[in-house]
Amino acid sequence: MKCALITGASRGIGRAIAIQIAKDLGFHILINYASNEEAAKETLQLIKSEGGSGELIPFSVENGEEVQKKMQDWFNNNPEKEITVLVNNAGITKDNLFLLMPEEDWDKVIQVSVKGMYNCTQAILPKMVRKRYGRIINMASVSGVKGNAGQANYAAAKGAVISASKSLAQELARRNITVNCVAPGFIKSDMTSHLNEKELAPIVPVNRFGLPEEVAYLVSFLASDKAAYITGEVININGGIYA
Ligand SMILES: NC(=O)c1ccc[n+]([C@@H]2O[C@H](COP(=O)([O-])OP(=O)(O)OC[C@H]3O[C@@H](n4cnc5c(N)ncnc54)[C@H](OP(=O)(O)O)[C@@H]3O)[C@@H](O)[C@H]2O)c1
Repeated sequence: MKCALITGASRGIGRAIAIQIAKDLGFHILINYASNEEAAKETLQLIKSEGGSGELIPFSVENGEEVQKKMQDWFNNNPEKEITVLVNNAGITKDNLFLLMPEEDWDKVIQVSVKGMYNCTQAILPKMVRKRYGRIINMASVSGVKGNAGQANYAAAKGAVISASKSLAQELARRNITVNCVAPGFIKSDMTSHLNEKELAPIVPVNRFGLPEEVAYLVSFLASDKAAYITGEVININGGIYA
């Protein structure tokens, strides 16, 4: 049975991706999250209500030992299943002007996005390489492509994710494993709930925030067999803010 591991799938964009991949590709979904079990269960319920299947797999992507242990246990308990899609979606922001940014906020944001991508990809990749097939999609951001005042830590994290993905794509292309980034602009989720959409919409050519589902359609396509010739790409999805 084919499976997709989506990190940070309890809420927001990750939840929408989990639902869309279950619907489009019929995959069993591993719903990762850090602590919000209620929300993760809701994601699972939404997948099931559309006829799909999935399970919860909580761990903090930051913690390499925990990720390795959880995934190894899962592989041992599920020899008939294979993870062919990995979406490194978990991410956080801790915004501040650089001059005021505490070191721990710099480190934490990078730890979750960059080390999280390292930890989860390390745990899944050996089996993908052996099967000579895989789809890895890493969640970047417009901030990681163009920079953004007040988000030097987040931009550094997402920029690192982008460059690491391009390198990994080149290492893995011959094994039929594609690695791509998706770089959203303003998307409605808990992460952007403090922002005033009315005030900010005019700087978006499409004149609104995007929906998690709109990001999920793109990720689901990249996760499919049809996207075999796309690798090492960063696909912007930002309503025209920046290309
Ligand atoms: N929203 C936007 O406008 C936007 C724009 C560009 C890029 N992005 C990126 O898109 C991704 C998803 O964003 P979102 O807006 O959906 O965020 P969100 O609504 O804040 O949800 C964050 C998700 O990540 C999980 N998470 C956080 N830290 C984690 C950790 N250490 N280990 C495992 N899971 C962790 C959370 O789990 P819990 O529920 O357990 O806390 C939750 O499922 C992020 O990488 C973000 O940087 C978002």
